[in-house]
Amino acid sequence: MAFGWIDEQAELRRRAGLVRILRPRAAGTPLLDLASNDYLGLARHPEVTEGAARAARTWGGGATGSRLVTGTTELHTELERELAGFCGFEAALVFSSGYAANLAAVTALAPHGSLIVSDAGNHASLIDGCRLARGTTQVVAHSDPDAVRQALVGHDGPAVAVSDTVFSVDGDAAPLTGLAEACREHGAGLVLDDAHGLGVLGDGGRGAPHAAGVAGAEDVVVTVTLSKSLGSQGGAVLGPARVIEHLVNAARTFIFDTGLAPAAAGAALAALRLLRREPARAARAGAVARELYDRLTAAGLEAVPPDAAVVSVRAPSPEQAVRWAADCRAAGLSVGCFRPPSVPDGISRLRLTARTDLSGAEIERAVRVIGETRP
Ligand SMILES: Cc1ncc(COP(=O)(O)O)c(C=O)c1O
Repeated sequence: MAFGWIDEQAELRRRAGLVRILRPRAAGTPLLDLASNDYLGLARHPEVTEGAARAARTWGGGATGSRLVTGTTELHTELERELAGFCGFEAALVFSSGYAANLAAVTALAPHGSLIVSDAGNHASLIDGCRLARGTTQVVAHSDPDAVRQALVGHDGPAVAVSDTVFSVDGDAAPLTGLAEACREHGAGLVLDDAHGLGVLGDGGRGAPHAAGVAGAEDVVVTVTLSKSLGSQGGAVLGPARVIEHLVNAARTFIFDTGLAPAAAGAALAALRLLRREPARAARAGAVARELYDRLTAAGLEAVPPDAAVVSVRAPSPEQAVRWAADCRAAGLSVGCFRPPSVPDGISRLRLTARTDLSGAEIERAVRVIGETRP
């Protein structure tokens, strides 16, 4: 039977407790949200939703074509200019998602004969970029500049190292200055995914590369998503103008994809301007994460010290992680649940995200529910 193998896979997934389900979210949910990536609480901010609505009224419901045909509006160009300026880069290019931005950066910067050195904890979109690229990938130990150095020694030809700045599962930060030094010693480029750094780390949320002093360097390229701190949708690549021009000509997820919807561009631009005006939002997200961590560990739970706004809590097994998240939900708390195959190390966790707009009482309630429902 066609697709018969799907049923076998479904049965294996069921037995391993790894079935994923979709849970439609109601507009006015009473759940306390520690699962979304809306770190700065901007997704529903009136200025952001009005930015989306105004852009849709002005430019339409969709971009109407790929960026190289009709899909580049003046709004896209404005967003690119302001995003690059804010994060400290010469130029930026906006994509329909952070996923597409990562595929673009890795594939376009790793031609045939090149070496890609990829951190073992990288996000799936960077991993998929490595899989699609013409170059050869070498996966190296997590957050280890010496491992990157070792991989680059003796390679003849173009090379690039790729890493998340803040790892999405455990929320730990990569050693950016060490990575930049290792790459520079060997004339390699560095591609950093700042999906979880933008809006949270660096001066006023300018991101982890800005904080580490590597933003704007001629050998550093950064990808971001507009869907987390900026409360919108879409992604971008930031870097030297010559790299951005190369992407316009060579990145298939740019060339063969409809441009970002105007509403998403308008929302992201409004959020960026709001963050510029209210820079304290960035530091507050980090402070909430640390408070969550302190209270969780004081309650005897095993958590990873957060470097940004993600707090990871260890669960004993995939099944128990799923049940734990479901029990939290039943008690009014929405948390993320990460388990294999989303986590290559096989460790299951609850994943909590800090939000600027969480009150002290909400943090206390969240920790109480997590403690009371622990397996
Ligand atoms: C580290 C990281 N990179 C890239 C992405 C993809 O971004 P987007 O959701 O905008 O496609 C995500 C999450 O979604 C992420 O966590």
